Amino acid sequence: MKNNRENTAPVGVFDSGVGGLTVAREIMRQLPMENVVYFGDTARVPYGSKSRDNIIRFSRQIIRFLETKNVKAIVIACNTATAAGLSLAQTKFPVPVIGVVEPGARAAARATRNKRVGVIATKGTVESDVYTHAIRANDAGITVFATATPRFVEIAELGIQMAKGPIENYTSLASQVYIRPEFQEIAQDYLDPLRRCDVDTLVLGCTHFPLLKSLIGGVMGREVVLISSASEVARDCADILSRQGIAARPDNEARYEFFTSGDDVEAFRRFGTRVLRFPLDHLTHIVL
Ligand code: DGL
Repeated sequence: MKNNRENTAPVGVFDSGVGGLTVAREIMRQLPMENVVYFGDTARVPYGSKSRDNIIRFSRQIIRFLETKNVKAIVIACNTATAAGLSLAQTKFPVPVIGVVEPGARAAARATRNKRVGVIATKGTVESDVYTHAIRANDAGITVFATATPRFVEIAELGIQMAKGPIENYTSLASQVYIRPEFQEIAQDYLDPLRRCDVDTLVLGCTHFPLLKSLIGGVMGREVVLISSASEVARDCADILSRQGIAARPDNEARYEFFTSGDDVEAFRRFGTRVLRFPLDHLTHIVL
């Protein structure tokens, strides 16, 4: 089927919850003229511990919903859902479907100097082995060390609930006072083995993790490059829209719409406002 959507049609972005806002933020920054519809499946977060079949089912429901918004492209801003169902979604839906794994893998393969790359992600993503394959497809000489760090999702969510201001401040080294010692300990436990593997590049293979960049970077040390796929994904999205001639006109005043399946719409609004740094005016609760 041909993608014959209008240039003013929105880009659809979704995640299991709020993590994908880190990708949406980058799309909004790099493509300020594009309308965006974001769906956060907060009622069913986390995806990381759920079965592949369930994640595929959830993703299909969400994409069908986004189709009702007439989206011209879809970004699966969730590594777990990308790992489980990107190819399937690409074969089922007529518009371009962009995942977050390949762009991050590509960036990591380009960044490593010692060909030793670490990946932290959810259980589902690590077990699927997608990052190892994707990184090695870019450079077969790279050794990949992948480990599941599910509690980082929890910390990201907690940080949002407990402090004011942008989430990054909460976990930043510059504001040590905000880092709870147990967060530091959890990060140390997860990341020390990767440090011992001498990785020089670490992929933040979950869209929640860029929110903890300072905490993670503080443990890994300055010499380790942290890779988040958000900016690569936004660049890919721009490239696809432009090649297909469906980019919005530069003078389009972008409209952003947000949907959450979670009951606590106000919590999502607060969280989103802190990640995006502007108020989420158009936010609706929706049951799929
Ligand atoms: N944001 C999701 C991802 O990128 C992880 C959070 C979850 O477990 O639902 O994989």
